[in-house]
Amino acid sequence: FTSGKLKGMFGTVEIVADKMVNYLNEQLAEGDVKEFEMKHVMGTYAIDVIASLFFGLEINSFLEPNNEILNVSRKVNEPTFGSVVRGTCQFLYPSLEKLFIRMGWREQAPNMMRQIVQRTIKMREEQNISRKDMLQLLMQLRNKGEISADDNDWSAKAGNDASKPMSIETIASNLFLFYVAGFETTASGISFTAFELAQQPAALEKVQRDVKQALEKHDNKFTYEAIQDMKYLELCLMETTRKYPGLPILNRQCTRDYPLPDSNLVIKEGTPIIISLFGLHRDANYFPDPMLWQPERFVNQNYDPVAYMPFGAGPRHCIAQR
Ligand code: HEM
Repeated sequence: FTSGKLKGMFGTVEIVADKMVNYLNEQLAEGDVKEFEMKHVMGTYAIDVIASLFFGLEINSFLEPNNEILNVSRKVNEPTFGSVVRGTCQFLYPSLEKLFIRMGWREQAPNMMRQIVQRTIKMREEQNISRKDMLQLLMQLRNKGEISADDNDWSAKAGNDASKPMSIETIASNLFLFYVAGFETTASGISFTAFELAQQPAALEKVQRDVKQALEKHDNKFTYEAIQDMKYLELCLMETTRKYPGLPILNRQCTRDYPLPDSNLVIKEGTPIIISLFGLHRDANYFPDPMLWQPERFVNQNYDPVAYMPFGAGPRHCIAQR
């Protein structure tokens, strides 16, 4: 996730963004008015970015709503009794997971994803295909033992002493984690931003001006560098992740006995801790008028930065923060 790697993958994301814009243009004639369910539009966009960037699949879910990756995604999010029980246990009693596996209780979606990853890796290796995406970086790590510091080097061709320290299983489970962590968070982050902007014409106008000016500065080309200059847009996204944190909680485990100040209570070593981001981000002590969506609060320093943790904190913070 260095700037160089992100820059390299930018074109891959842009192709998906173009598909979304084409879809919206087709739905909406010039000057026309139509209602859209933004969560659906942005969820479709997010799944296509994930399919392309993580799994190396070029799909268009706007036009083909029954493609392979959408079917897996529906399976993951299916709220069956079994999936709710298992999901809750994975969070609250993770040790039960081993028992479930021993009992032969297989989850379908991770298996389906594993097959997609296996198939794509095989195809890329056999046909010597290199593509600028996350799968390629993980293949590089598997085949060469490290990810190249040279941002132009995306080759994953194994050397002579190819010991392959990383299994396909590990690649597939990392990509599955990226999917789980990145799908809903991205889709809801953009949707909530659109939702707030739709209610605040002044902010909408400001963000449109911001985007236009940044594009003008970069020869009207939509590039990685142009996005860095969209400062007000960034403030809007910051404020959305404040008011609507993509993950409502952080999980931690207490590593040594901790006496709570001004009380007789001690949090014992080993205690699982849940930190409510939702609670912190909507607490008037840290963010005055917390229910107001005000991108300017980050410019006016009208908040407590210590309480702002939309991407978590410390060594396990979100890899996608940048
Ligand atoms: C607006 C979008 C996103 C938000 C608000 C968000 C938020 C978070 C938060 C709060 C955590 C927990 C961090 C902690 O415990 O300190 C996290 C972890 C993580 N996120 Fe994100 N995330 C977003 C997008 C993504 C995307 C697109 C990806 C995939 C590339 C991703 C991958 C991860 C991973 C792998 C972790 C676990 C890191 C670890 O445990 O070491 N996130 N994210």
